[in-house]
Amino acid sequence: MSKIVIISSSVRVGRISNRVALYFKKYIEENNLATAEIIDLNEYQFPVFNERLKFQINPSPQTLEFAEKIKTADGVLIVTPEYNGGYPAALKNVTDLLYDEWHRKPTAIATVSNGGFGGTQVITSLQFSLWKMRAWTVPAMFPVPKAQDAFDEQGNATDKAATDKRADAFIKEMLWCIEAAGKMKA
Ligand SMILES: Cc1cc2nc3c(=O)[nH]c(=O)nc-3n(C[C@H](O)[C@H](O)[C@H](O)COP(=O)(O)O)c2cc1C
Repeated sequence: MSKIVIISSSVRVGRISNRVALYFKKYIEENNLATAEIIDLNEYQFPVFNERLKFQINPSPQTLEFAEKIKTADGVLIVTPEYNGGYPAALKNVTDLLYDEWHRKPTAIATVSNGGFGGTQVITSLQFSLWKMRAWTVPAMFPVPKAQDAFDEQGNATDKAATDKRADAFIKEMLWCIEAAGKMKA
């Protein structure tokens, strides 16, 4: 079974986008699609890194653990809020930390907003940076507008049928990339 890690990117007090990360974990597990683990940047509370991991003299065990989780994942699902049209500093901090770990990694992006547009503007900057690091960005979108109404704090969707339908298309695209990447490794 494939291993998907879900990066929950917001470290904001009262954050909403973590609900979407919780939803995806449940969705993937309930449907037996892969294993799913949330990497919660709010739990890690990383410092602002002063160098990329491969140049750090004495990296912390948490930093090494984070890198290992990305490296060994078959696919990474990034749940990101949109902050002023871009992605949060906490996410930039950990994406730039790594380089080779991203190479050909199937990486899907779900964007989250409390407004009506679902954070769709954040896609361009995040996708571009991941592409620069040679990640394999999954060509599917999962914008979540009005996230505070769309999910409860446990990650249950208000309209489960409609949300699951969208998740089905999104995760299927990701799983296709994971399967294709696996065939190339074999
Ligand atoms: C610094 C900052 C900038 C924001 N900029 C945008 C924005 O450009 N577009 C948008 O739709 N929402 C914006 N928001 C609102 C977020 O969509 C909202 O906080 C949402 O709940 C997702 O972020 P969260 O997981 O941190 O809660 C911004 C929020 C913050 C804290």
